[in-house]
Amino acid sequence: MRVSDESARLSQILRGDPFEIELNGQSLIANQGETVAAVLLANGIREFHHAEDGSPRGVYCGIGRCFSCLVTIDGQPEVRACVTPARRGMRIETTIKGEG
Ligand code: FES
Repeated sequence: MRVSDESARLSQILRGDPFEIELNGQSLIANQGETVAAVLLANGIREFHHAEDGSPRGVYCGIGRCFSCLVTIDGQPEVRACVTPARRGMRIETTIKGEG
């Protein structure tokens, strides 16, 4: 598939209604039906926390099995971003700030 065909196809994807969430104190737009991981990835954020050896972690399995995508949501630590639906007004914290 050519790039222009792929771009046209992607522009036809229907997304849910937009709403705001907060990531590390900054506003992000999420769409109804997206997981927290999907919202972060759509905004270019790929690193969510550090493993014990200091290496960055983000989405790996994407199906709730590996615990690589942990974030803090509304004060609850160690929530799997890949299986948590984004909700209006949700406050998400990563331990890696400002880069992804
Ligand atoms: S990416 Fe594996 S549990 Fe979320």
